[in-house]
Amino acid sequence: MKLSVSARAAAAGGIATVMLLTGGAVADAASAPPRPAAAPDLPLASVKAHLTQLQSIATANGGNRAHGRAGYKASIDYLKAKLDAAGFTTTLQQFTASGRTGYNLIADWPGGDTGQVVMAGSHLDSVSSGPGINDNGSGSAAVLETALAVSRAQYKPTKHLRFAWWGAEELGLVGSRYYVNRLATGDRSRISAYLNFDMIGSPNPGYFVYDDDPAIEKTFKEYFSGLGVPTEIETEGDGRSDHAPFKSAGVPVGGLFTGASRAKTAAQAAKWGGTAGRAFDRCYHSSCDTTANINDTALDRNSDAVAYAVWELSE
Ligand code: TRP
Ligand code: CA
Ligand code: ZN
Repeated sequence: MKLSVSARAAAAGGIATVMLLTGGAVADAASAPPRPAAAPDLPLASVKAHLTQLQSIATANGGNRAHGRAGYKASIDYLKAKLDAAGFTTTLQQFTASGRTGYNLIADWPGGDTGQVVMAGSHLDSVSSGPGINDNGSGSAAVLETALAVSRAQYKPTKHLRFAWWGAEELGLVGSRYYVNRLATGDRSRISAYLNFDMIGSPNPGYFVYDDDPAIEKTFKEYFSGLGVPTEIETEGDGRSDHAPFKSAGVPVGGLFTGASRAKTAAQAAKWGGTAGRAFDRCYHSSCDTTANINDTALDRNSDAVAYAVWELSE
């Protein structure tokens, strides 16, 4: 039989108290920490259904969802309706870039300590040359489904949760920079984490974790090691996505990435599968970045990792 021994000093007098617990069946209910709610497994079909909608929006609007175009605003409207119906407080933040109107969509989950805000975000705009389903329908859909899962679970974390979808990333991080620049100094320091998801369903995927805030990085690595999936540090484009303005403002940042135009090496194909010598995403910024340009396994794992990190970092 397995015996576990728990010993600690009594509060008064420093007298050691020893408890023998047999078979793991007995718990010290008086002092056991409350067990945090476990993060949900997001349904892949739900994440993919959002991608199908974004693809339809692009197809109906000239083949793209780019800044200043009808397909971008239709993408915003699709997400906003879902978030409003789920009980989020949504804000549309309007700005101008290259002579056209752009939008950030911010969704706050009521409750939690607004002095400690955990944010997760993704850019929602595509380039004008394609529908932008991996870049960045994938991150946008995973963050949306995480928010909807928060609502389904009626999750009540200690910290305040905020989700964001950025406009005009493809013009040079315009939307996210606009948001950060307009935050009061005090509000910047109230953001305890910003998590960024830009391209997380690449068709020939790698599993890359941003090498940034150590606690955030550890949380993501913990999730993937639980799946038995090796990860690497993201090096394809530090500062090339919406976490950069947050990082410059002193906010702890992290994120996930499955690769863009860089080629997968033989060593990477050996550990992750896929095709060596081929780009992680051959359709990066092209018209073929459609719903066919998604690796379901990568999208599923990364979407679940988004939910895991949001739950873990906000409890
Ligand atoms: N942000 C780039 C885009 O949208 C894609 C990209 C390249 C990227 N390298 C990256 C995203 C590294 C995150 C991390 O076109
Ligand atoms: Ca899942
Ligand atoms: Zn992108």
